[in-house]
Amino acid sequence: MAEVDRAVPPALTHAGPDRFLWALDKLTTAVEWLHRNDRRDHPPVRPVDRDIPLLVSEVRAEADEVISLRLTSPSGAPLPTWQPGAHLDVVLPSGRKRQYSLCGDPGERGHYRIAVRRLADGGVSREIHDEIRSGSRIVARGPRNAFPFVTAPRYLFIAGGIGITPILPMVRTAAARGADWRLVYTGRSRESMPFLGELTALDPARVWIRPDTEFGIPASGAELLEHCPPDAAVYCCGPIPMITGVRVDLPGSAADSLHWERFSAPPIVDGRPFTVELARTGETVEVPADRSALDVIGEVLPQVPYSCRQGFCGTCHVRVLAGEVHRRGRAEDDRMAICTSRATGRVVLDL
Ligand code: FES
Repeated sequence: MAEVDRAVPPALTHAGPDRFLWALDKLTTAVEWLHRNDRRDHPPVRPVDRDIPLLVSEVRAEADEVISLRLTSPSGAPLPTWQPGAHLDVVLPSGRKRQYSLCGDPGERGHYRIAVRRLADGGVSREIHDEIRSGSRIVARGPRNAFPFVTAPRYLFIAGGIGITPILPMVRTAAARGADWRLVYTGRSRESMPFLGELTALDPARVWIRPDTEFGIPASGAELLEHCPPDAAVYCCGPIPMITGVRVDLPGSAADSLHWERFSAPPIVDGRPFTVELARTGETVEVPADRSALDVIGEVLPQVPYSCRQGFCGTCHVRVLAGEVHRRGRAEDDRMAICTSRATGRVVLDL
């Protein structure tokens, strides 16, 4: 497998406590920036009311704790088309539901591919790793696209860990179109990073693999952006600190060129405690300043549905019967995205 060698950037030559303080300072700056600037909503996601029964035709180990599923139509019929950045809402035999980016070839109508990292606290990922086998049946809804891929002459792709999944079809498409592209792919270690061979096979000179284990510290936003071609569209997907670092270090004049997607709930900023009354069960729960209503409600209603945990997919939206809600996310006026929205005092929900 060929990979691009790179000198260690100056920012990484800090040593010992200096390096720790430097990293802490960058993280603090990033979180403060996020507090001020995390106002950009995802684009509207057009609902697709279409359940697709799918057969798991292959399960492959792609990296440490990462497997891919090849999904086909049980009838052999072609599957609905999709564009890079699209995802499926996957419904498992247990009824649990989660979104997974499509990471195969968009031109392939015979099968879909998704990849799943086993998360320590992830019931859905555990179920997929432990119980889904070749021959299993699942249902998917979609494909839907909340991370659309724009046409541009140049691209910089930045992916962290399992965040490579929506990025991979974008890279493949950019390469097929003859665009000028570069990929920076970070992760804890090479062993934990899926699809390394597939990516470097596209063009090793355009791919920089940057595992933390080889640099001793996660990459800063400036480092990830170091070889950004001028006027490039920047696509970024991965953990929150990585995305925040890129957003902080991207020059203000290039802010509109950045497209990003994160895979976990956003941090709670300036949270205040509030009370939720569940009208149907009569229970009352207290939501502390540092937790979401979804987290707390999930303890008394484990089957409460959710998916993105970022306020845009609509899965967790609940009707508000009384109370003042501070909306974050795209819920309609009489509804609350319980994954991100908060309330003042007491709110009564139709749950
Ligand atoms: S889980 Fe997607 S909007 Fe709340």
